[in-house]
This record gives sequence, C-alpha cells and structure tokens, in this order.
Amino acid sequence: MSSNHRINGARLWQSIMEMAKIDALPGGGCGRLTLTDGDLKARELFTRWCEDAGCTVTYDRLGNMFARREGRDPDALPVAIGSHLDTQPHGGKFDGIFGVLAGLEVVRTLNDLGLETDAPIEIVNWTNEEGARFAPAMLCSGVYAGLFDLDFALSREDADGLRFGDALERIGYAGTEACGDNKFGAFLEAHIEQGPVLEHHGEVIGVVTGGQGQRWYDVTVTGRDAHSGSTPMPGRSDALVAAARLIQAVQHIALDNGPDGVGTVGELHVNPNSRNTIPGEVRFTIDFRHPDDEVLSVMDTSLLAQVGAEKDAKVELEMIWHNPPVRFDTACVDAIETAAEAQKLPYRRMVSGAGHDACQVARKVPTAMVFVPCRDGLSHNEAEWAEPEHLEAGCNVLLQAALTLSRQMAPAS
Ligand code: GLV
Ligand code: MN
Ligand code: MN
Repeated sequence: MSSNHRINGARLWQSIMEMAKIDALPGGGCGRLTLTDGDLKARELFTRWCEDAGCTVTYDRLGNMFARREGRDPDALPVAIGSHLDTQPHGGKFDGIFGVLAGLEVVRTLNDLGLETDAPIEIVNWTNEEGARFAPAMLCSGVYAGLFDLDFALSREDADGLRFGDALERIGYAGTEACGDNKFGAFLEAHIEQGPVLEHHGEVIGVVTGGQGQRWYDVTVTGRDAHSGSTPMPGRSDALVAAARLIQAVQHIALDNGPDGVGTVGELHVNPNSRNTIPGEVRFTIDFRHPDDEVLSVMDTSLLAQVGAEKDAKVELEMIWHNPPVRFDTACVDAIETAAEAQKLPYRRMVSGAGHDACQVARKVPTAMVFVPCRDGLSHNEAEWAEPEHLEAGCNVLLQAALTLSRQMAPAS
C-alpha cells in the first residue's frame, strides 16, 4: 500500500475539540473521570461518530469499547487502534483522546478513499486508563491482557467507596462479552509524548519501543489525635509530620536512582483535617517508575528501610500495583518506524515514561505506539497542548502502519 494516503488533519482536530467540550474546565482542559456522566456522554458521541463511519460498536464486561470496520478477509484478526477517553481531574484535551480519535480518523480516511483493508480495523476506547478515580491505572486493558481478574476490577473503589462495577452499571456499559474475548492481530496506540524529549530535539514522531515499570503504593500513617495548643511538642504522635518525612524520602529515593528514576506523592488525605488537632491519621499514595525493574526493587528496598526507621507513628505500606517494564513487538515497532521514514518525518526511538493501555495489551498482542510532541512536555495539566500538524503527522504514521499490519494479518489475500 502506498505511503501517499493522508488523513484529514482538520477533521481530526475538529473531533478532538468537539470531544473536549464534554466536562470542559475553565482553564482549557477536561475533567472527565471514568464512569461519570461526562464519560457516558463521551462514549455516546464516540459511538455516534463510529456508527456514522459505518462501524459496528460493541463493548465488553468492563465497558471497553470496540468499533469495527470489516476487512476483506473475514478470518483475519483485526488491527486495533485506540487509547482512552477518560481524563485526569485536571486533565488536558489530548491525553488518550488523540489515540481514540486518531483511530476514528484512520477509519474515516479509509472510507473517503474507498479502501478495503485486508484485516478488519477496530477502534478501541479502554475504560479507566487514568486510574485517577479507580486505582490502578490501565485497569481494563490490564484485565483484557490477563494481568488482573475481572473481580479485581469490579471491586475497585473510588474515594467515596463506590465500587467500579456499580459505577459501570450506572452508566449502562457493563456488557456481556468476556473481557479479553475480542482478539486482535495487532494493537497500535497514538499518544502525545507527555514529556519534553521530542520537542527538545525538534522531532515530530516518537517510535515507542516499550514502557517503563511502575510500582504504586498505598500508605497509612497512624499517630494520635490531640489538642494542638495544650500538647507539648515532645511526645506527640503527629501522623502528618511522619508522612512528610516519608514524602521527602520518596523524593530522595527517586533522585538517588536518577536520571531515570521518578517518584511522586500525588494524593494525601489528612484526618481529622482540623487546624487545631494534631493529625492522627494520614493516607497517601506513592508512584515509583523506572525503565529497569531491578532498579525499582532497589527503590522499593529504600522505601521499606525508611518506613522501618519511623519511630513516632505507625506506618503501613501496601504495594497495590507492580507493573514491570514492557517491550513492544518488533514488527509493529518497525511498521511505525517505516511509516515515519517514508513520510520523511524526523523521528526517534524512545521508551515511554507514562503508562499506556498499549503497555498492558502488549503482554498479549503484538503492539506498538507512536508519539507526537506536546508543548513544554506538559501533560496531566489543563494547559496540555499539541500542535495540529503534529497530531496530523502522527495520525498519518498510524494510518500507514495500520495498512502494513493489516496486510500481514491476512497473508493469504
Ligand atoms: C497514566 O496516565 C499514567 O502514566 O499514570
Ligand atoms: Mn493517556
Ligand atoms: Mn494520563
């Protein structure tokens, strides 16, 4: 298939801007947490667009959505293209959304060109990629890939104690098809880089060769509530002061394992959260990442040592997620690279710093990703921004890679 086929960049941009109106925030971003009314609206809009493009839309037991455009060979496994429509609480317009709507743009372009692919094409919207409402992230692509059980996913709870399964029922997206039954021949995900590398080097395409490892922890620090005025400083059991020591340790452990090690405390709950009561309980989260799982083990050991050294409060540390680094499939990575080369786009091979559904799916299906730059490398921020021409270039690479892989899925045709 020739590399001359091009997607419609203006249409892609318009779709991203239209989707961004759902749960738009005043600062220009989106706050569309998974399984909320906004998520439902996004799913309905996506469904309408896919059906208008001639696709059949289905969803599985976890609400993962699949929009299928049939190919020439009914026996060939589909080339799936997708990402997620949920966002962080203060998320942007592009993280995840680009990857889903790039899949839609590929299908629309194939329709415009009257092209029948060998294998079917499926556009995918994975449920709960962000993990902001229900931890861990990439939950439902994780079940798809066999990394988590269905019941584990259904039983996750949000901060109000609402179960994932109940939230899914509420928006009407608990399908009947078992999660993982819908088989793919290959999976491709387009995404903004969410880091500064491409922009720094003036490159347009990241050919992603894999994703780094992640370990997520829940920490509970228990001290003793007491009066802030009448309790002498010596002998207090201040859970927040103990938590602060641990938070500093997270920072130091990441720096000690730099430049690739990163550590973040993004969520903190103080109890009773009253100005004149010494905090008796603090719960917080830790997110450690590194491309090498052995280094993550070193970071884990350092964290345990810090927990063991805390004398003024009781610390309970639970690793709720151990996600090892992943390498993408050579043929899929090559298909992305060949497309970037054919289109004379400046590119580099790189490992993803962020987690992605592709990192889960890759454990079951040949997978690769294409990155495009984002301004100042900023993401998980309302100001997240990608240039229309970069999104267009990434989608053109996706189109060509999907056509290449579609031929490989149906070798007899
Ligand atoms: C998802 O956005 C992650 O990398 O945590
Ligand atoms: Mn994302
Ligand atoms: Mn994200």
